[in-house]
Amino acid sequence: MSKVLFVCLGNICRSPLAEGILKSKLSRSGLNNIEVDSCGTGQYHIGEQPDSRTIANAQENGITLDHRARQFVYEDFERFDHIIAMDRSNLQNIKRLDSDNNFADKLHLMRDFDPVENGGDVPDPYFGGERGFQEVFDILDRSIDHFLMKIR
Ligand code: 4NP
Repeated sequence: MSKVLFVCLGNICRSPLAEGILKSKLSRSGLNNIEVDSCGTGQYHIGEQPDSRTIANAQENGITLDHRARQFVYEDFERFDHIIAMDRSNLQNIKRLDSDNNFADKLHLMRDFDPVENGGDVPDPYFGGERGFQEVFDILDRSIDHFLMKIR
């Protein structure tokens, strides 16, 4: 059993969408040995459903989201095998909690797996328009495909 955690800031836009995309790919390919969750480094939206624009975008792409926002906790370092941050700022937020550098091997950036544009940030769509959500979806979709190829 491999365990994957996606991390963004609010846990209502990017990371719950990444969770939904990966879960959908796993169920379509009959893989049930990978556990997936998401969380945020911020606490603004704890307990909330994903942003309504995220839910709508996921729906347009055939994915139903089922997640309530939660904040990253230290135990996540131990519980998960792959901790994937949506941008460098949130990666820094988590790294700061790993002050002894015990978990560096588990920490990644989502776009380290992006075959089109490698290593940057998944843009935060929260303050942008509708187009931002499909752009985020496309980045996540192809990056998660490549992530899956690497871990399988
Ligand atoms: P997310 O987007 O990190 O992709 O969930 C955001 C959601 C909420 C806020 C920022 C980013 N906020 O500042 O409330």
